[in-house]
Formats: sequence, C-alpha cells, structure tokens
Amino acid sequence: MDKIVVEGGVPLRGSVDVSGAKNAALPIVAAALLAEGDHVVRNVPDLADVRTLGRLLAHMGCQVERNAGERRALGIRVPSAVTPEAPYELVKTMRASVVVLGPLVARWGQARVSLPGGCAIGARPIDQHLKGLTALGAEIRLEHGYVHAFTPRGRLEGTVFTFDGQTVTGTENVMMAAALAEGETVLRNCAREPEVKDLADALVGMGALIEGAGTDEIWIEGVESLRPIDHTVIADRIEAGTFLVAGALPGGDVVVKGAVPAHQEALVEKLRAVGAEVKEVPGGLRVVGDGRPRPVDVRTQPHPGFPTDMQAQMMVLLCLADGTSRITETVFENRFMHVQELQRLGADIAVDGKVALVKGVPRLEGAPVMASDLRASAALVLAGLAAQGSTEIQRVYHLDRGYERIEEKLAPLGARIRRVKA
Ligand code: EPZ
Repeated sequence: MDKIVVEGGVPLRGSVDVSGAKNAALPIVAAALLAEGDHVVRNVPDLADVRTLGRLLAHMGCQVERNAGERRALGIRVPSAVTPEAPYELVKTMRASVVVLGPLVARWGQARVSLPGGCAIGARPIDQHLKGLTALGAEIRLEHGYVHAFTPRGRLEGTVFTFDGQTVTGTENVMMAAALAEGETVLRNCAREPEVKDLADALVGMGALIEGAGTDEIWIEGVESLRPIDHTVIADRIEAGTFLVAGALPGGDVVVKGAVPAHQEALVEKLRAVGAEVKEVPGGLRVVGDGRPRPVDVRTQPHPGFPTDMQAQMMVLLCLADGTSRITETVFENRFMHVQELQRLGADIAVDGKVALVKGVPRLEGAPVMASDLRASAALVLAGLAAQGSTEIQRVYHLDRGYERIEEKLAPLGARIRRVKA
C-alpha cells in the first residue's frame, strides 16, 4: 500500500486546479443506465471510485471507455438490455454504487443490488432510498444482503413523497427513478447539494422534465424514454474546499482555480472567521492565511450548511488556533477518526459524542499516521503540511478514492510531498 510523506512547515503559494466532482460524476454515470445508446460524461475525475462504478456498469453489460474523445471524458455505451444487478464484490468497495438502484428499477422494472453496508464513518442505511422507490410503486425485498426490487405493475407511478431526513444519494436515486415513472412526482425534504442539481441538469439534458433540484422540493414529470447524456460535471467543491483550507494555513497564499464561490459559502464564512482572507478572483477563489488562526465553532449540516465532508480538514486549521474551538458533527455518527491521528501530531482535542473540543496549539510535530477514511486522509495531508518535520501517512488508498493525485497538485504550491510506492 502506497504511503505519502510530507516534510511540513512550508507555507503554500501559487495556484491549483480543481477536478470534476466525484459526488456529481458518480450519480451522473449511473444515470446513463436510464437510456440506451452512447453517453459522454465530461470532466470526470480519474479516481478509484469512478473506476469502480465503471467496472460495475461493465459487469451489467455496458461498454465504458475513459478519455473518450477528450481527456477526462467517459464514454458509456448502454445496450437495450443489461444484467440489472450490482454484486457485493463491487458494492462493498464503493457504497455509492447504490445509485444504480433507481435507474435499474425505472428502466428495467427490476434490480438486485447488494446492500452497501456501513463504512468507517457510520452505519449509512438506505431506508430512505427504499421508501422512496416503494412510494413510486416498486416492491422491495431484502434477502441475503441484497435489495431485490421489481415493479409489479410494469412501470413506476408518479407520487408525492417526503424524505424523513435529507439524503444526497437517496434524493438522487428517487429522482432518477421518477424521471421514467408514469405521471407527476413531487419530492419533499430533498437534499440541496450542488451535486443533486448537477445530476438534475444532466437528466434534463437527457430529456427529463425536472424542476426545483437544488431546493428541498423537486417536481418531476415522468417521460416514456430518455436520450443519451452529454454532460460536463461541475467542479469538486470538497476538493476545492480542501485546497482553500491548505491556503488558509499560516503563511499560505493560494488561488484555487475552478472553485465555485456559490458552492463554498459556509466554508468561506468560517475561513474568514478564523482570520483568513478569501476573495473571488477570475476563475476561482484566492485564500491568504494571515498568521495564527482564531478559534471558531463549527457545526456540520446538510447543504447549504457547513459540509460534513470538510469537517476533518477544518479541524486541522483549528488545531493551530490561539484558543478553543467546538466542532459538532451532526450528519454522521462516527466521523472523528482523524482525531486520534491528529493527537499523534500534537493536537489537543477532546471528543465527547458529537462534539470535538479543539484546543489550539502553537505547532504540530510530524509523525507516522494512519488514514481511516477519505476526508480524514485529506486532513492528515493538511496536518503534515502544517507540522514541523516529517509526517508519513499510510493507507493512502482512502485518499485516492476522492483526490486525483493530490501530491502532484500540492507540490507546485511548494509542498514537500511525495508518494512512496509500496
Ligand atoms: C453523500 O453520501 C456523499 N457521497 C458523502 O460524501 C457525503 O458525506 C454525504 O452525502 C453527506 O453530504 C456521495 O454523494 C457519493 P446521505 P450519502 O444519504 O448520500 C442518513 C465523501 O467523502 N441516511 O446524505 O450516503 C445517513 O446515515 C462522501 O465524498 C439515513 O438514515 O449521505 C447519514 O447520517 C462521504 N437513511 C445522513 O442520512 C438513508 O436512507 C446523510 O446521509 C440515507 C441516509
């Protein structure tokens, strides 16, 4: 397993490009299942999770080609009939594979999809996905770790459905299924993440009739059939946010090219509160880390609140603040695994349930640490950049799921960072 070694203490200067959004690309690639033909999804990041989903579609009988006609374009040829199943062997490595469920049920009236199971950050049930599909007329059985779904009346039927809680992929699954249902569907208490909106834009490009995506109420008029996708994925707001935090570290001055200000409002507000300067520049955002951060309280929320996917990265900045900050993780039940690793670097953090009290220290000291999940790994890279001395991060496969060769993006900013092949 590869390791990443960081010699910290060097402020980051320069500009860095943001790749396409993993969490938009995944549901949009899955949406290809809704229509026969040749699809093109552009600005797709070259990530392990995207490759896994490509293997899953190939398993079903689709042809998937990277760099189809242009760099970072994915070509997907969907046949008239596929094997509507997602086996455990593939789903266990990437739980977001569950987003194939809605398209399979909607287009072929049946699906056999492995339950994703939990992951490091929480149980991550999919009850809302299943309730929404049931409301559309699907019959769902759970057997031997699989979801068996089918439509006894042939086609799904439009309905009015309210989610019990905001779920990003739950909203995406049900919205995709409703796109081919008979009649009108109104979904309430939807997730408002930009990735949901980007999926809806891709679906509308396929001929779907959808309004309100990006708000908590989405209206869908089902259609008989859809045409192949040709869509360019939005920039990854979490990768962009990770680089913004990197630039906010003491002495940093970084332009994050491709960052969309409207997607970063909650994070930018907190970066300014700790004393960083953030301003819009042509094509992105510039952040300047002005000395030691000030402490600030953070509470993760569904969009447009502070993103849970940025909680670990923000914690690193607050580890260096001249005071105590309170971080409350309200979205996932176990998303503080980066804490014990940060403590190895000298951070002073006390966790009590959903709350982490971060008492700022003047500096962090490099040490060997272990990645545990995707965003925790990104936080450890940031901590290594800030720490004095050498930090070795093991199990970077977690990082590669959501960041395209992060070391190649950070090195031009002056980071002394390298990947050690196992
Ligand atoms: C998406 O996961 C993202 N993944 C996650 O990003 C992100 O952390 C999360 O949304 C929250 O923003 C993708 O989009 C591929 P949820 P998702 O359903 O859809 C509970 C990353 O780092 N819930 O919005 O799985 C659930 O347990 C990843 O890129 C139910 O109870 O998250 C959680 O507590 C990590 N029942 C909360 O809702 C359900 O049926 C939010 O989960 C569904 C969810």
